[in-house]
Amino acid sequence: MRNTIAVMNTKGGVGKSTIVLAIAETLAAQHGKNVLVIDSDAQASVSAMLMATTSLRKLQGDGRTLVDYLVAAVLRDTQVEWTDFVVGGVSDVDDARSVYVMPSDMQLTLFEREVSKESLHGRLRASIGGLLSRARIVFDLVLIDCPPGLSVLTECWLREADFHLSPTKPDYISVCGLDVFSRFKQLNPEMGFAENLGVLVNMKDRQSAEDEEYHRWLAGNPDNRCFEQVLPRMNALQQAARFQGEERSFGAKYPGEIGMAVRGLAAEILHRLAVADAALTSNSTPQQASPQRGAKRPLEPGAASARTAPSAVPGGGSVSAGTTTNGMGAGARPVGAGAGAAKPG
Ligand SMILES: Nc1ncnc2c1ncn2[C@@H]1O[C@H](COP(=O)(O)OP(=O)(O)OP(=O)(O)O)[C@@H](O)[C@H]1O
Ligand SMILES: [Mg+2]
Repeated sequence: MRNTIAVMNTKGGVGKSTIVLAIAETLAAQHGKNVLVIDSDAQASVSAMLMATTSLRKLQGDGRTLVDYLVAAVLRDTQVEWTDFVVGGVSDVDDARSVYVMPSDMQLTLFEREVSKESLHGRLRASIGGLLSRARIVFDLVLIDCPPGLSVLTECWLREADFHLSPTKPDYISVCGLDVFSRFKQLNPEMGFAENLGVLVNMKDRQSAEDEEYHRWLAGNPDNRCFEQVLPRMNALQQAARFQGEERSFGAKYPGEIGMAVRGLAAEILHRLAVADAALTSNSTPQQASPQRGAKRPLEPGAASARTAPSAVPGGGSVSAGTTTNGMGAGARPVGAGAGAAKPG
């Protein structure tokens, strides 16, 4: 099944990390899905949203991040087990026990500089492709939180992932970011590129006529494949970014209207993935159909709970939990496409 999604807009601050967090927690808590979040941003925003700062610092100090994986696989060209860099038991939502993360580190910037200096782009892309092909089988969904801009690493995710999902604010500059992305996609098409899963309008202010105008304009372009579901600008979603030492229910973290919105978005994503999968299967001979289809989901209901024990990576591999239940501590809390740009109308 094609289930790897790069969450991407070249524009910063449109809600990419927040949306990765919300989708991961909703799919885990409401649909029982095993979700891997790959934090590909040196700011490590989504890592910090998923675990206590002390836990994140410890993982970074212990060399257990995506960056450590990439340094070993790409710069040192050594064989490493990807699951050693996947952390379970994250998220402060009590029902979201099947969210996993490959955390990030600010060293990512230095890593990318080395890749460019040593011209290791080919090896980087092969490593990213290999990682996604293994994660695709083990997890129900893989979400890659991309940084703003277009780095060599982001390009690899975009060429190797199955889909991209592009959050945007309904405003001029965010839409320009989508346009840059769309034009980038058209360069070197022979190198492959993720398929557009959809553009997601985020932080829409219901009272704003201009937001409404931009939303309509985005939705009017079929290339955008805008999600029906829109995420309104709401304090609850801003607060969701702040990891709490104490667990809370899904409803407490995503109350009322925002809870309905993230549930609606998660359902729409699952529907679009199923439609894309069905389309692929109907276009393939039986032998060509996705080999992972129907693969046993390794984390069966009733498997070891992260509440009581370090959780296991679905499908095996070693992992340590990163939150309040594993002794790493409740610790300190973090303090916290395809558009054509231009103005509508
Ligand atoms: N729907 C929303 N309502 C209110 N605040 C939101 C919403 N979505 C995101 N935010 C807030 O907007 C800010 C930017 O969000 P976020 O960090 O997720 O964006 P980003 O695109 O990942 O940024 P960057 O490009 O720096 O990685 C954060 O303060 C976040 O809490
Ligand atoms: Mg971000």
